[in-house]
Amino acid sequence: MQISVAITPAKKQANNCAVVAVFNETQPKDSAMLLDNDSDGCIKRAIKTGDITGKPGQTLLLHTSDACQWSRILLVGMGDKASVSPADYIKAVDAAISTLRDTGVASLNVFITSDTQVADRSTAWQCQQLASKLAGAEYDYRAPKHTSSLAKIKKVTLLVAKKEQKNCSAACEQGMATGAGICVARGLGDLPANICTPSFLATRAQTLAKNRSKVKATIVGEKQMAKLGMGSFLAVSQGSREEGKLIIIEYKGGKAKQAPVVLLGKGVTFDTGGISIKPSAGMDEMKYDMCGAASVFGAMHACIELGLPVNVTGVVAAAENMPGGEATRPGDVVTSMSGQTIEVLNTDAEGRMVLCDALTYIERFKPKAVVDMATLTGACIVALGHECSGLMGNNDELAAQLIQAGEASGDRCWQLPLWDDYQQQLDSNFADMANIGGKGAGTITAACFLSRFAKAYPWAHLDIAGVAWQSGKSKGATGKPVSQLMQYLFDNHV
Ligand code: BES
Ligand code: MN
Ligand code: ZN
Repeated sequence: MQISVAITPAKKQANNCAVVAVFNETQPKDSAMLLDNDSDGCIKRAIKTGDITGKPGQTLLLHTSDACQWSRILLVGMGDKASVSPADYIKAVDAAISTLRDTGVASLNVFITSDTQVADRSTAWQCQQLASKLAGAEYDYRAPKHTSSLAKIKKVTLLVAKKEQKNCSAACEQGMATGAGICVARGLGDLPANICTPSFLATRAQTLAKNRSKVKATIVGEKQMAKLGMGSFLAVSQGSREEGKLIIIEYKGGKAKQAPVVLLGKGVTFDTGGISIKPSAGMDEMKYDMCGAASVFGAMHACIELGLPVNVTGVVAAAENMPGGEATRPGDVVTSMSGQTIEVLNTDAEGRMVLCDALTYIERFKPKAVVDMATLTGACIVALGHECSGLMGNNDELAAQLIQAGEASGDRCWQLPLWDDYQQQLDSNFADMANIGGKGAGTITAACFLSRFAKAYPWAHLDIAGVAWQSGKSKGATGKPVSQLMQYLFDNHV
């Protein structure tokens, strides 16, 4: 799919489709009115008959007569014209894409004129969202044998006013790269754990770096981890036949001396719980326990594709959490790379144990900021459901930037307190800390654990347990929070 910005529609093409917003109004206005004039009043009729009312997320695909420049017109409900929220807009985009799936539409002309004003967002933002959503929706797990349900759409033109063209083109590029990153993250997330092992992820990093002078991949294996004293990471991976890997992807798009932004992902390629084994129902979904890592790959892919003028380092803590004769036992005490000792009271609290050594390792990059993404706690789903991720950290400015990027991208997050009062839950009689807290606030105590290893830099933690994949009939990785990470980079580091 090729997506671009233009000020006038493309010439008449076979199987094309115009996409236009309809509001809670009795008459089509602006772009919809122009299209209505071109199409014998079919939009007016659709409104009059009540087939579309302008409710956000409602869509109606109309077929026109041969004389019309458009073979079809897709009406997309956007709500009250005066108060379209960003969430309404994103809902409308999602609905439009799902209506277009599996149709014969080959090219789209989307009318994004200033008459579709969305709250405080620019037209460029609308273009970016559309491009990113469209490109992100092209993903199909069954590829390349199977073609994506959006594959027939070859060309998308976003129509904007002349004065907006330049901004919108740049935003469209950003959106397309973000969408490509989302596809990467979804693809890795959905891979089964017998294929997507820590070594597989390491190879992917090496492939990303190959023939690219600005990208370097470094793989730290278990032998070297032992030398570095990463006793916490190794305590997780020692129960598995798969070797754990700490994967580092350095992208140098900025000045040589510029401190990097580090994106760190939990890459537990399968989480059985270890000796503290999980119940078997739904355990297959623990192949998604590497979705934090997948988002790092997705974001790095997007940065590289855009040639973003920033130094970004992606780090993935990849390990498999298995029970077995060599697995860590509850009660075992291990020493982390930081020197702090950990009593492993529950081997299912493994994410924090691989991440803590990665957080210490990262100090060598003297990062400007560190953001980690992790499917860390079931408690986060209890607290926030599937609507947003949990945000915690040691730096208010960084947290505010991520909240903002969340709102602007649709990958929202909600901050939870990381007060000292929660730290005592990690007290241990036999080590500097236990790896789990008490009954309450499991998401916060997990972050408390991480915070003890992230003192050297501004740090934020996104618990993505509720958002990284969908269960049930639509089981599959979402690619979250790639869009939020890219928005954060665009807004604060470019
Ligand atoms: N990967 C899980 C968290 C998880 C569970 C994410 C379900 C998404 C859906 C994590 O490693 C884990 O097992 N956490 C434990 C922590 C507990 C032992 C303190 C949990 O949430 O139960
Ligand atoms: Mn676990
Ligand atoms: Zn886990």
